[in-house]
Amino acid sequence: MHQITLPRPDDWHLHLRDGAMLQAVLPETARHFARAIVMPNLVPPVVTLADAQAYHSRIMAALPRDMAFEPLMTLYLTEGTDPADVAAAHASGLVKAVKLYPAGATTNSHSGVRDLTKVMPVLEKMAEIGLPLCTHGEVTDPSVDIFDREAVFIDTVLDPLRRRLPGLRLVMEHITTEEGVAYAAEGGENLAATITTHHLIINRNHILAGGIKPHYYCLPVAKREKHRLALRKAATSGSPRYFLGTDSAPHVDALKEHACGCAGCFTATNTLSLLAHVFEEEGALDKLAGFTSLNGPAFYRLPVNTATIRLEKRAEPCIWPEKIVADAGPVTVFNPGFPVHWHVLP
Ligand code: DOR
Ligand code: ZN
Repeated sequence: MHQITLPRPDDWHLHLRDGAMLQAVLPETARHFARAIVMPNLVPPVVTLADAQAYHSRIMAALPRDMAFEPLMTLYLTEGTDPADVAAAHASGLVKAVKLYPAGATTNSHSGVRDLTKVMPVLEKMAEIGLPLCTHGEVTDPSVDIFDREAVFIDTVLDPLRRRLPGLRLVMEHITTEEGVAYAAEGGENLAATITTHHLIINRNHILAGGIKPHYYCLPVAKREKHRLALRKAATSGSPRYFLGTDSAPHVDALKEHACGCAGCFTATNTLSLLAHVFEEEGALDKLAGFTSLNGPAFYRLPVNTATIRLEKRAEPCIWPEKIVADAGPVTVFNPGFPVHWHVLP
């Protein structure tokens, strides 16, 4: 099979940032994707419906005229979030999910949630109206090893929450472990999980063996090989519980290649080619459309895109820019470390 046609894909977890960075990275996503769930971890965060409306306008203003793209907005859950504002955000049609960042878990998460009991009225309202909660699924307890934080989150936060509020629709964002795969598999219709492109490609050796590679560092951090293999199996299984959320997260090189480097891999530019490569390796090209284009809309109760996109396998490898040039500085494009031959056709 040398050509594949997919319904135009969506990215169910994306960081677009703001200002000059937004301007630089938005075309990289809009070139291939019809829609994306846009993360709200700006400084200050996107907390209210009014914040989301303003951010949506800035994204649309930054979109090149010849590109079509629909940002699906999210709200950043804080301990001060008003359930009535969340209900209004849902009713407006603009906001498609609320994001839970445990305070301190990742980039710009300090306004996040410390005590889940404080946000129960919001979560109850969301369960009532069917608005999904997207979770950054890691505990922040410094005594928990960073490689165990996802599994501990599932046991100590996620599972108790879902038992308390079984009607809450929930997406486990960017799962990185076999525990995450297994939990999502058994969760029924109200549970799904996104998987990033880079977690299908790298394990923790890629970050740490032979010298630290800051451009492979993200959160949740890539785990051991058995977890990468579990993610590959899940993504290519055809199960509707798993779909693409790239977590493409641009940071300028100066902040990635730093004594305290930022977390994030920038994969917007080459994600589709990389995924075709991975799915072909797994003998599952027939499952690619489900992962990129069908399962996400089904969970979010949105129509599948009617436009299509084609990929072609060619003898010559794809050539991507090594860096995207933003006003604040260069952003390194994720380098898988092997040649990729699946070209996205214009
Ligand atoms: O690697 C990451 N980068 N993980 C996150 O959770 C946040 C993101 C960012 O905003 O840079
Ligand atoms: Zn993210």
